[in-house]
Amino acid sequence: MQQKNNISNSVIRRLPRYYRFLGELQREGIAKISSRELSEKMRLTASQIRQDLNCFGGFGQQGYGYNVAELRIEIARILGLDHMRSIILIGAGNLGRAITLHIDFEKYGYRLVGIFDSNIAMEGIEISGVPIMHMNVIRDFCRENKPQMAVLCIPRSGAEETVKTLMECGVRAFWNFSHYDIHFDFPEADVENVHLTDSLMTLSYSQENHAEQELEQSPKEQGV
Ligand code: NAI
Repeated sequence: MQQKNNISNSVIRRLPRYYRFLGELQREGIAKISSRELSEKMRLTASQIRQDLNCFGGFGQQGYGYNVAELRIEIARILGLDHMRSIILIGAGNLGRAITLHIDFEKYGYRLVGIFDSNIAMEGIEISGVPIMHMNVIRDFCRENKPQMAVLCIPRSGAEETVKTLMECGVRAFWNFSHYDIHFDFPEADVENVHLTDSLMTLSYSQENHAEQELEQSPKEQGV
């Protein structure tokens, strides 16, 4: 099997979609699927799917297609969803609360072991059964619990200092909602930046293009 770190970022970015989609097939009771059927359902080309899955050694059998359950387990293994890691969440405001309440971390191999906020008034309040702790105990907590990842739901202003503290405590991976560019100061960290508005702007672009295409087509359609 090919080394994971030789795999292109674009393939890795498609894997969660395969994983999610195969889960839906499993729930529908579908046990096997050909790359052609998979491609039609996922709106990718069959050769794209074969190429993607071949990056990991390929799981399909000629004339049989893919075993849905096996392929899903294999993708989970590649993504590292098959073992538990501990995470903490920093910033228990609107966003932090929404993420804690709506993301089932355990489904993705993460156990939420602590929630932290700099607002002392929040101390002890529970979200999803996890009590909020004050930031002043974060070093002790990390020493004892060794979380591997942090979800950052704090404003950009306090993020650099927070990341510095967390890096010193051994946290190396960040699911970053904070709008602070972690890689600029900490290039060694593993970072996934999430900007919800990026997706809104991409939609805006599609809409603009769509409108332009319709405008270009309309004179012909009208026989002008
Ligand atoms: P909020 O004001 O409701 O909550 C922020 C919480 O973080 C507060 O409880 C505050 O006490 C705490 N906090 C602030 N600085 C801290 C620090 N240094 N350490 C620990 N806790 C700290 O704000 P909300 O709506 O939850 O948003 C949080 C941040 O996330 C905002 O800066 C916002 O711009 C950003 N955001 C990003 C999105 C994205 O798509 N990336 C979407 C929505 C918000």
